[in-house]
This record gives sequence, structure tokens and C-alpha cells, in this order.
Amino acid sequence: MDKVYIVYWSQTGNTQAMAEAIAKGVTDAGKEAVLKFVTEASLDELKQAKAFALGCPAMGAEVLEEMDMEPFVADVETFAAGKTIALFGSYGWGDGLWMRDWVERMSGSGATVMNGEGLMCQEVPDASALAECESLGKQLAAL
Ligand SMILES: Cc1cc2nc3c(=O)[nH]c(=O)nc-3n(C[C@H](O)[C@H](O)[C@H](O)COP(=O)(O)O)c2cc1C
Repeated sequence: MDKVYIVYWSQTGNTQAMAEAIAKGVTDAGKEAVLKFVTEASLDELKQAKAFALGCPAMGAEVLEEMDMEPFVADVETFAAGKTIALFGSYGWGDGLWMRDWVERMSGSGATVMNGEGLMCQEVPDASALAECESLGKQLAAL
């Protein structure tokens, strides 16, 4: 893939920092990273891609952000079958339930979730979390 789309929602910047590190991994691997806040993202572009990344922190009570990300993900579910999707996001105090539910949901729609699980970090991503994000970007670039 020449372009790798990374679509995310973030309120305080933690998931955004993860998205930027994924984009760096993509770029370091020689591909073009297209980083979009969810309200700027195009479903049509994702429909054309065989793999992409979606990021969202745990919000509400262990759910995706409801105003913008949740409806976007509901739309992605309608064409996710056969695609590889990398999921990522930051959380605060929970045990990752929002991410497990999200993985199950995307798998249920027929997508392959990259590595079989979402990439999570607690609050601000530290150096090792950022390195994991970069390596996720490299994996995506290699597809
Ligand atoms: C309204 C609200 C709801 C939240 N709900 C959860 C939650 O259910 N579980 C959890 O682990 N963290 C929860 N958090 C913490 C955020 O997921 C955490 O601060 C995260 O790092 C924010 O990511 P962001 O900087 O990308 O916005 C919540 C934060 C806010 C503001």
C-alpha cells in the first residue's frame, strides 16, 4: 500500500500522540501516512484501502467517543469485511474493556484486527508505547 490512513479521535492529545507515532512508523518504512482527525476523514478513502488504523480513547463508561467516532466506526463496520484494521487508543483507569469490545466488534464485521488485539496505553504514551506505535505503523506499511 502506498498510502496508509490513520483515523483517530482524541480530546487531550494522548491518542493523537499514538497516531502520530504510527504515522512515523509508516513514513520510516517508506510509505505515505495520511493522518486524519475523524471529522476530517473520508469513508470512501477507507473503502479503497485494504488496511488502515483507527484510534480512540476509552470514553463514557468504556465506550468509544459517541459524537463523532462511534458513528464513524458504525459506518466502517458496513464495509470492514476482508480488511485489516489496526486499533489503538489511550485509556485512564479501566482495564481495556472498551478496546476488547471494539476488537470483537470489528472482528464480528469480518475484519482482521492487526495482531488480534488493540494497541493500548495508559494516559500519555511513554517512550516504549510510542515505539510500539511506530512498529504498528511499520507493520501496516508492509501490507
Ligand atoms: C468523559 C471521559 C470518560 C472517560 N472514560 C474512561 C473509561 O471509561 N475508561 C478508562 O479507562 N478511561 C476513561 N477516560 C480516560 C481517558 O480514556 C484517558 O484520559 C485518555 O488518555 C484520553 O485520551 P486522549 O488524550 O486521546 O483524549 C475517560 C475520560 C473522559 C474525559
